[in-house]
Amino acid sequence: MSAGARPGTTASLGARPIKGLILSGGKGTRLRPITHTSAKQLVPVANRPVLFYGIEAMANAGITEVGIIIAPETGDEIRAAAGDGSRFGVEITYIVQDEPAGLAHAVLTAEPFLGSDPFVMYLGDNLLQGGIEDLVKAFDTSRPDALILLTPVPDPEHYGVAELDGDRVVRLAEKPPQPRTNLALVGVYMFTAGIHDAARAIKPSGRGELAITDAIQHLVDTGARVEPHIVEGWWKDTGRLDDMLEANRLILETIHPSNGGDCIDSSVDGRVIIEPGARLERSAVRGPAIIGAGTRLVDAYVGPYTAIAEDCLVEGAEVEHSILLAGAKVRNLSGRMESSLLGRNVVVERDEGRQPRAYRFMVGDNSEIGIL
Ligand code: TTP
Repeated sequence: MSAGARPGTTASLGARPIKGLILSGGKGTRLRPITHTSAKQLVPVANRPVLFYGIEAMANAGITEVGIIIAPETGDEIRAAAGDGSRFGVEITYIVQDEPAGLAHAVLTAEPFLGSDPFVMYLGDNLLQGGIEDLVKAFDTSRPDALILLTPVPDPEHYGVAELDGDRVVRLAEKPPQPRTNLALVGVYMFTAGIHDAARAIKPSGRGELAITDAIQHLVDTGARVEPHIVEGWWKDTGRLDDMLEANRLILETIHPSNGGDCIDSSVDGRVIIEPGARLERSAVRGPAIIGAGTRLVDAYVGPYTAIAEDCLVEGAEVEHSILLAGAKVRNLSGRMESSLLGRNVVVERDEGRQPRAYRFMVGDNSEIGIL
């Protein structure tokens, strides 16, 4: 997943440019408490915000005009992180969605930006290993009214599920108790302008949201051609902690090792990036892992599938299969910390001298602490 569009390959459908729409609003309730203070699309995977992978997927497919849906609460932070898009080779337009009223509502909110152009819609907390180039090519070749990405899953009852008739989508069901196929909807779609009328025609679902599956079903019901595209490679929706850790694991598997830091009496094995200004003292890192700039590891062990952001400290502790956001500190733990996500500037430490021995917490709303 590398950055930057190749010159001369601007994606288009006939004379029309294909635009990109990335959805980075929403409530993010499943990732609380992280989302109390920050957008979930900015949680880093292998030390880069999830959102950046989506922007790069657009750039790599030759899409240069990208709209990003933002929520009023977290929009400024997203603007500050992604900027005008020039560093990715795209031009970003930010579109504020006043309330998280559903994916089809987000499409309607973006209508002035999209106009009558075809577009790729990408959920800002999703990661797609193979990118979207194949999807854009398939769309250009067969010119359907909409193209939806599908992937076989073992537990389709937890997803939006598609039923097919040959190369046509005939029905979509949201989390059906008895799914008729194992083909789940991936958070990436391609639409022509007909989706706007479909989004206007539907009513809010049980959750009070305008659901994109209902809008696509409306396209099918009114005779539009909706085609499936089966994804090769993995796809992850990072909206929950376990999926976020899994996405982190999958991306870390692909990193190229490099060492820009200081290693004093320390060992580094396997696929590890040590960013410039990181410092290891009497520590061991076993990859795949990434240690952010300015982070210090002192008498520490960092195990596989761990991403530690910048300016963190791990001292007298072991961390594995975890994500630490900037400024987090883990000190003097007797057990290994694993499968954890620590927000910015979180401190987890054991005070060795203090009596009586006890757990002492100051924890924000909706936090989870597992003592095993
Ligand atoms: P979801 O993960 O389905 O919804 P959510 O962000 O509200 O999260 P949760 O279920 O944990 O409360 O959203 C998928 C993506 O689309 C995500 O990047 C947020 C974005 N989104 C919008 O931009 N506008 C919306 O109205 C909704 C519902 C989601």
